[in-house]
Amino acid sequence: MSAVASPGPVALNDPLVYLSVSGEAEMVPLSEARIPVLDRGFIFGDGVYEVVPIYAGRAFRIDQHLARLARSLNAISIPNPFTLGEWKDRIAQLVDAFHRSHGIDDQFVYMQVTRGVAKRGHAFPKGIVPTVFMMTSPLVLPSHEVRAKGVVAVTQTDNRWMRCDIKSVSLLGNVLMAEHAAAHGAIETILFRDGFLTEGSSSNVWVVKDDVLRAPPKDNRILEGIRYGLISELAEKNGMRFAIGPIAEADVRQADEVILSSATKEVVPVVAIDGVAVGDGEVGPWFGRLYGWYQDAKAEALGAH
Ligand code: PDD
Repeated sequence: MSAVASPGPVALNDPLVYLSVSGEAEMVPLSEARIPVLDRGFIFGDGVYEVVPIYAGRAFRIDQHLARLARSLNAISIPNPFTLGEWKDRIAQLVDAFHRSHGIDDQFVYMQVTRGVAKRGHAFPKGIVPTVFMMTSPLVLPSHEVRAKGVVAVTQTDNRWMRCDIKSVSLLGNVLMAEHAAAHGAIETILFRDGFLTEGSSSNVWVVKDDVLRAPPKDNRILEGIRYGLISELAEKNGMRFAIGPIAEADVRQADEVILSSATKEVVPVVAIDGVAVGDGEVGPWFGRLYGWYQDAKAEALGAH
């Protein structure tokens, strides 16, 4: 399938988005994009999504993001609407349109697939076509100051469903936890289930203790971030000791360093949890190294094009 033609110039605050409803695809200004109210994403949260960082106009770790999207779709039995090449073409078209309208090359692409539009009824309707929505926005990374000073986090019990490995648009649990952080002046809510670390409301959580980087297991309790894979590779490559396994709440609270990772945050250091300092309350040395390795990985990926 070829990429969809773009209309003419767009307003600066009204970028072009990609929308395909019942098989009818278009690139339209965001303000004109419409979905039917019976879309199952709207009615049931019946869909999945991805957030892909774009550096200098190029999608970072795109194969891994598209593989995770395919896994999420497969897990809820929505047929993947596009091939890898078609996804990449559409992302490139969107990124390029945004570059032309806004002159911005560091972006993040949001893409969502829902089961489609049908009369309301919980079980899967037969013969409907998935709805696809894609938009891009400027990627505003945490500032140098934020990385230098660190951020604060709060905690809550993880009461979400047991398929957190699916990147579902049903995000009510995560939304409530993000709001809990916002209401407490924190950047993130760190979650514990049965006394063990799972993740943040929209990030993975890393613990450093005695120079070992620790991460919780990749299972149904967490979303396996694309940065989860990247950071484990970076630790391995740079000779940092790395261990995957259950992390007790006390180990998080007594960590030397705690780090968050996500597509839009990259990596950020947590210097206080629930008002108590992490380690000595300063940004730790392993964060600095990890951040450097991350920037090297970006530069390498750009150089490889
Ligand atoms: N969220 N865990 C959860 C619950 C997340 O929502 C995210 C990312 C991650 C980190 O995954 P990645 O490294 O692939 O970004 C972990 C995105 C950024 C979001 O919902 O906007």
